[in-house]
Amino acid sequence: MEELDAWLGLLQCPDCQSGLEADAGSAERLSCRGCGRIFERSRGIWNLLPSVISNVEGKDAEKEGWQQKSEEDKRTGWTPPPEFYLALPYVEHHYYTPAARYLDIVLEYGKPWLGKKVLELGAAECWATRHFAEAGSDAVGLDYDDDKDRMGKAQILLDHLPIHFLRVKGDGECVPFKANTFDCIFCVSVIHHFFDLPRAAMEISRTLKPGGVLFAIHEAFHPPYWTEERALAWNEENSINLEVGINERSYTAGFYRKLFRKAGLKLDVITPRWDVRHEGSSLIVKPGAGIFANRHYVPEMLNSRSERKDLVGWIARLLLASQVWRIAVSPLVFPLIRFQLLNWMQRPKIIVARKPTPSGGG
Ligand SMILES: C[S@@+](CC[C@H](N)C(=O)[O-])C[C@H]1O[C@@H](n2cnc3c(N)ncnc32)[C@H](O)[C@@H]1O
Ligand SMILES: [Zn+2]
Repeated sequence: MEELDAWLGLLQCPDCQSGLEADAGSAERLSCRGCGRIFERSRGIWNLLPSVISNVEGKDAEKEGWQQKSEEDKRTGWTPPPEFYLALPYVEHHYYTPAARYLDIVLEYGKPWLGKKVLELGAAECWATRHFAEAGSDAVGLDYDDDKDRMGKAQILLDHLPIHFLRVKGDGECVPFKANTFDCIFCVSVIHHFFDLPRAAMEISRTLKPGGVLFAIHEAFHPPYWTEERALAWNEENSINLEVGINERSYTAGFYRKLFRKAGLKLDVITPRWDVRHEGSSLIVKPGAGIFANRHYVPEMLNSRSERKDLVGWIARLLLASQVWRIAVSPLVFPLIRFQLLNWMQRPKIIVARKPTPSGGG
């Protein structure tokens, strides 16, 4: 029961919110101190789903959709060997290759990890949970889908690597942990799948410690001048997913910011292009790092346009000559316009939503 030791006092009953206790008779059972409900572990995964699940038809349809896709993969001969799961996300793949870069950025930005409590929501095979555990944190992977081809695959990591983490079958809209438990909540392509997004945001906020941070990578964003339909149609994988019942949605960065603000979190985004620099083998992650790295940095946007012979070129040259652009890139003004620029730009973004500390710091 070793992986449970760090967590037992922090778990709560998803039905009545009371604490849970170990069962004297079985290491595979926990019981609720309030309502007496028994929770069991099967194939290493604790089932902590609430008795009444909101939007249960939709959630089950999505789970079946993922299963249908894995069956389809198997039929086409795609049955990844254990080495594949052990290598994730550092493999050549349209989904995992960028995920690896975003994960590296989060691991760098959120340092140090030793002894931190980390929850991966929608962890599926727990490939990311594993990297937080390896970085020294007490990690837990939670997913609605505990299928043998999803969270079941995490057993490969636990069998082959000198790490342990807790696995929970649960609902991100009713997280079975006490308030103020986690230093970090991490998600990969999960937030935009929730049916009740405000409720999930409230749960994230409730279970984060003051000063704790949600990082979400591979979320679906679209600029305000696009409709959600257009955004979803942009990637053909979405229509396949929607057909099999997977809840694909897309939102603007401004929408995510309002959503999390209502839940009590302060949202910013990191974009690899502007906010991350390489120095030798180290990553420097700092919102605006690309702009502030060099005090004499002239925005590419102006430089490249200043060559043009038309009105745009004339305006660019005027802005450059008058030095007006320096106001826009100053440390005081830039963060204010940076978020709006990113909201309107279709470029990858990492959500960073922080729960303020009572003193107002982060
Ligand atoms: C696109 S998959 C991403 C899986 C994994 N993070 C990855 O990147 O490989 C979305 C995951 O979120 C999980 N999920 C969706 N809604 C959930 C909910 N309400 N509670 C817990 N997990 C949920 C799904 O079961 C699925 O595993
Ligand atoms: Zn209970």
